[in-house]
Amino acid sequence: MAFVHRDFLGLADYASDEIRFLIGRALDAKRGKRLPSLAGKTLAAIFFNPSLRTRLSFQIAMDRLGGRAILVNAGSDLWALEFDEGAVMDGATSEHVKEAARVLDRYVDALAIRAFPMFRSWDQDRGDTVIRSFAREARVPVINMESAMEHPCQGLADAVTITERLGTTTARPFCLTWAWHPKALPLAVPHSALLAAAHLGMEVRLACPPGYEPDSETLAKVKELAVGGGGGLEIFHDQAAAIKGAQVVYAKSWASIARWGDAEAEKAARKELRGWQVTGRAMETTAEGFFMHCLPVRRNVVVADEVLDGPACAVYDEAENRIWAQMAVLSAVVGR
Ligand code: CP
Repeated sequence: MAFVHRDFLGLADYASDEIRFLIGRALDAKRGKRLPSLAGKTLAAIFFNPSLRTRLSFQIAMDRLGGRAILVNAGSDLWALEFDEGAVMDGATSEHVKEAARVLDRYVDALAIRAFPMFRSWDQDRGDTVIRSFAREARVPVINMESAMEHPCQGLADAVTITERLGTTTARPFCLTWAWHPKALPLAVPHSALLAAAHLGMEVRLACPPGYEPDSETLAKVKELAVGGGGGLEIFHDQAAAIKGAQVVYAKSWASIARWGDAEAEKAARKELRGWQVTGRAMETTAEGFFMHCLPVRRNVVVADEVLDGPACAVYDEAENRIWAQMAVLSAVVGR
């Protein structure tokens, strides 16, 4: 399989056999197998937004592969970047992404970028201008550490977690459920969680209130991959019905695309939706299912304490598997 120098921007860009190869490599590393060394290789990980897991797990992954990671906070460490083609830069921005990316690729062997949506327009956000501009301008591979559209490293770690717990995944019921949250959150994690389950050929159930359906092109891709792998996609507006009999319950909140960027309208629409929480009682209706969330999570808002503190909770495995999944990606795309 050809991975070297390939960007890792989204699970939608990869074939299911390639994702399965990376899952296998991550699990091999977790069981103690040595992956190809990245001694002498450097990753620059640039954060336009905060992070706990992604920052530390990328640094640890590079350390374990024998390479090094330089972590950069874009807001405090970089010049204000311009992304518009042909911009007359007489305003607030000091450096164009063309120069930044072309300089960075002389310094490092891979770039990793986190750039959340701006929440002004969905059409604009779904273009992932920041990460795609770096990917276009830099000659080294670019890894997505969460953009508007995807969080593929989280999705791969989730696929690793599901595979190590279930073994065979084909046609197993996976439920992604929307959850109430006081803030409007991005769609990257739900998109990548759906794509991860689809790559595994699972029976994907999406539970959300009407109007909270994710990006339609992504859903079409999820359906294509899931059906191609022996599973399927079904959309539920009843959370209890979707969770019943599931073997995996993944909770996440996200903003409605129809009200994208309109915080007041979003707040009003959510008033009646506080019941969308994963409780111990809901988990009792699953087929001995386990609970997943990417973290950070709001306790007793998205999910009840008894689930997070109970035996069905897989969130710490997911967080640990970020390290193994990213080692698999880094060793594949940076290569030697
Ligand atoms: N799940 C995840 O990406 O966590 P951080 O935002 O803390 O990196």
